[in-house]
Amino acid sequence: MNRFVVLGAMALSLAGCVDKTVDGRALFAEECSACHGDDAKGGGVLAEGLTRQPPDLTHIAARNGGVFDINAVMSQIDGMHRAEGSPMPEFGAGDMGQIVMIGRTPVPAELLALAGYLQSIQE
Ligand code: HEC
Repeated sequence: MNRFVVLGAMALSLAGCVDKTVDGRALFAEECSACHGDDAKGGGVLAEGLTRQPPDLTHIAARNGGVFDINAVMSQIDGMHRAEGSPMPEFGAGDMGQIVMIGRTPVPAELLALAGYLQSIQE
């Protein structure tokens, strides 16, 4: 086996390990539910005062023709490309935990865990 393939396999298994230690559901409850609601369907305690209403996060795939685009979702959470005037904080500007490699892309473990949690609750 060529050594790049071996490195890739190691990176993927590392990502697998980290994924289990970072609990996306708990992170969501801590960082996101105040706006998005405990069930991620909107209407969290802070939602009322916002200029824009947090969308139902259990229907991200449904709104996108049935496809859950994990890269797009991670980008939205990261916030680097968020909409002008969005009330949602730029989480990527803070500390999102250690970096794991997904293929050849470095991704913060917490970002991956949050997006994975959202993927798991699609209806
Ligand atoms: C201060 C309120 C607030 C907090 C906290 C917040 N969001 Fe949001 N979020 C919003 C609003 C409002 C939108 C609507 C889009 C916009 O205005 O940019 C949004 C949009 C999104 C979207 C895009 C959904 C779509 O289909 O377009 C995702 C994904 C998302 N939030 C995930 C999260 C996650 C994960 C967290 C926690 C790490 C979080 N949000 C924390 C307010 C918030």
